[in-house]
Amino acid sequence: MVFRKFLSELESKKQLVKITKEVSTKYEMANILAAIDGRPVLFENVKGHSMKVAGNLNSSRDLVASALGAKKSNLILLLAKAMNNPRPPKMVGNAPCREVVETEVDLRKLPIMTYLKHDGGPYIPSAIVIVKDPELGRNICFHRLMLIGRDRLAARIVEGRGTDNALKKAGGELEVAIVIGNPASVLLAAATSLAPGVDEFSLANALEKTDLVKCKTVNLEVPADAEIILEGKITKEMADEGPFMDLTETIDGVRKQHVIKINCVTRRKDAIYQTLLPGLNEHKILMGMPREPSIFNEVSNVCKCRNLLLTTGGTGWLHAVVQIEKKNADDGKKAIEATFKGHGSLKHCIVVDEDIDIYNPDSIEWAIATRFQADKDAVIMPGAPGSSLDPSAEHKSGEKTKTCKVGLDATIPFGKNAEGFKKAGYGNVDLKKYLDEVL
Ligand SMILES: Cc1cc2nc3c(=O)[nH]c(=O)nc-3n(C[C@H](O)[C@H](O)[C@H](O)COP(=O)(O)O)c2cc1C
Repeated sequence: MVFRKFLSELESKKQLVKITKEVSTKYEMANILAAIDGRPVLFENVKGHSMKVAGNLNSSRDLVASALGAKKSNLILLLAKAMNNPRPPKMVGNAPCREVVETEVDLRKLPIMTYLKHDGGPYIPSAIVIVKDPELGRNICFHRLMLIGRDRLAARIVEGRGTDNALKKAGGELEVAIVIGNPASVLLAAATSLAPGVDEFSLANALEKTDLVKCKTVNLEVPADAEIILEGKITKEMADEGPFMDLTETIDGVRKQHVIKINCVTRRKDAIYQTLLPGLNEHKILMGMPREPSIFNEVSNVCKCRNLLLTTGGTGWLHAVVQIEKKNADDGKKAIEATFKGHGSLKHCIVVDEDIDIYNPDSIEWAIATRFQADKDAVIMPGAPGSSLDPSAEHKSGEKTKTCKVGLDATIPFGKNAEGFKKAGYGNVDLKKYLDEVL
């Protein structure tokens, strides 16, 4: 659903928290968003800025499901289907994102926020960055963008991924388009690593219609319905980027990163700036959710996979809970192996039966408490390649991070009396019969 249509739908369902009191882009807005993480917010009165700011829009799986018109339990299948059937988007001639064209660039006019006292400066964590790889074509990715001047941003470009590879092939300089104000479909597509050469906008368009329009000053295409577009060039100049909070909610260091020079800003007349909270729910959901279909496919190759989740407690990236329909004694162990194959950065995985609620941490812990014996049901893999984001892993410069991976098979042991492992459960009662006011 188009960014602003989603905002009005949230408003009509009374799910949008509107803040009319004047707020500051420095810490205050971030603190409010953090205090009500999981609830979408619209700041209508931002100190020193005329633009409104929306945040927390995808800060729960229920919100993502409603943005995509799907059920929460169907999200993995919906994503998997779109990944397997990408649909090239349509080009349109004119678009709302070009209602205003500014060639006198001053990025300080945008309500770019400072989130924490540790932050190296104000930055944009919520934009998608579009470049063209000279061999593979268009690549879309999130890159946090630190404001370092009137028309300059320092971009955190992780090594070895789409943008970095394209930049190296192009000799260190590339035209770029940066898009702010995107729907869940575009954000999820940008966070996905597809096979080389597969266009992420075709994934977004398979999730829901995503028309594109040509940029004004660079040879790139952007979503026609977006709010704000920054056009420019990734330069060879390097600048300090960071420190900022990462996905793990710990503080990432300072690095020399490429500077982006912006030459033109186009936007809607009444553009709304979109933010998201680094480290919290929305970051975790957008980062982890695109990995779930590949885990689902791998587990489905070895047993009946019912559902799975990269949990928020596990940073949305390091912990998976996988629900299977166990038919053979070794299904749990096979599912563990397949889960690690489906997501290389994963550190811990727990396999559970169908009666466990994978969205409820208490239910998962109960399965471990009552169905798991470490000497028989744990798979431990010391010295395995791990995530660069895990502070406890072994990091050596120029080498792949090493970690110890652990899988827990918390399914009911095969061949034992399954009924003895089920919760007895109390009956339902209509409390209105007993209480004047239902608690
Ligand atoms: C909210 C969010 C913020 C992210 N920030 C960055 C970032 O600053 N730098 C980066 O290189 N990747 C970042 N990522 C991860 C990339 O978007 C992700 O790895 C992407 O799938 C890589 O795509 P590619 O393999 O096509 O390049 C972020 C992801 C999310 C969801």
